[in-house]
Amino acid sequence: MSCIILGIETSCDDTGVAVVDAGDRVLANVLSSQTQLHADYGGVVPELASRGHSENIVHVFRGALQSAGIGLDDVDLIAVTRGPGLIGCLLVGVMVAKGLSWSTGTPVVGVNHLKAHVWASVLDRTARLAAPALCLIVSGGHTELLLVEEPDSVEGTLVGGTRDDAAGEAFDKVARLLGLGYPGGPVIDRLAAEYRGDLIDFPRPMLSDSSFDFSFSGLKTAVAVYLEERDIPEGRLSDEEQKRVAASFQEAVVEVLATKAQKAIRETGVRTLIAAGGVAANRQLRRRLRDLAGEMGVEIIIPPPKYCTDNAAMVAAAGYRRFLHHGDDGMELDANPSLSIRPVQR
Ligand code: KG4
Ligand code: ZN
Repeated sequence: MSCIILGIETSCDDTGVAVVDAGDRVLANVLSSQTQLHADYGGVVPELASRGHSENIVHVFRGALQSAGIGLDDVDLIAVTRGPGLIGCLLVGVMVAKGLSWSTGTPVVGVNHLKAHVWASVLDRTARLAAPALCLIVSGGHTELLLVEEPDSVEGTLVGGTRDDAAGEAFDKVARLLGLGYPGGPVIDRLAAEYRGDLIDFPRPMLSDSSFDFSFSGLKTAVAVYLEERDIPEGRLSDEEQKRVAASFQEAVVEVLATKAQKAIRETGVRTLIAAGGVAANRQLRRRLRDLAGEMGVEIIIPPPKYCTDNAAMVAAAGYRRFLHHGDDGMELDANPSLSIRPVQR
């Protein structure tokens, strides 16, 4: 049955509006990236980001309706990211969603951005979410291992999480140390793929620790110390050395993520591994997780790279399921910058 969902994403630096039918068929997925706006600062400037959203949102919204070939009257449900994220940014999306809902009478639901990353797996009908599944969510602000027990709501138990810098944050900070600009993940991914030589043995934080938590700030410091010891000023590495540091850093992150995921699969006994979030676009991580799943005989689900990084189609997909379970959030809907993936008590 058709259900046209309008998804809105403004939690960080991408303004996204998407039109998705029946929770998985993407009719339009429009994104306006603010990368240029923040590039000079080496990271997202919250004030600039929220202003950027309010400038872009109407244009992006019109583009999405046009590209899907629909009018506002055709929309059955509005879904918007309500958290986690930057409060000024979230409020732009939430207020637009509530305004649209109020003026058209269309129901509106608020979506957890992290759960939306998991729902990206079903877009274009690439996969069905099975449970129980172990979910590795790796983004700019989060590194979480979640045992999903109820696939319809992506409810589950948090197995492990970030102690300090998230995986994506580490990519961005190391890219800055290497003078590679923002965001760091895609450029480190590209440079690492071009490198063929030996690797620097950077530390693998908390690798043999019994917990499933992550910590990447020490790894970033190890890269900084490596550069300092060689007296290399920011951005002054030779091309080959830049690739070597990028590849070595990436290898350390991928090894930690894959090893922790492997241990958690063994411990929980799940037969499905899902990887989601911006860092899941990383080619080496994708390869390593696929190999690991093959060796362990478990199913692996990783959304295509375009649905791993922030987008509004995943918000529409998550919003559809939320609406089926909880109905309309109505005008009570509010942004929550520190919304978490709530651990369910067993
Ligand atoms: O999920 P996302 O788009 O936004 C957040 O919710 O944070 O993730 C953004 C993060 C950034 O830190 C970015 O550098 C990283 O994902 N990223 C990557 C790649 N593409 C994006 N990291 C490693 N390799 C990539 N190919
Ligand atoms: Zn995200």
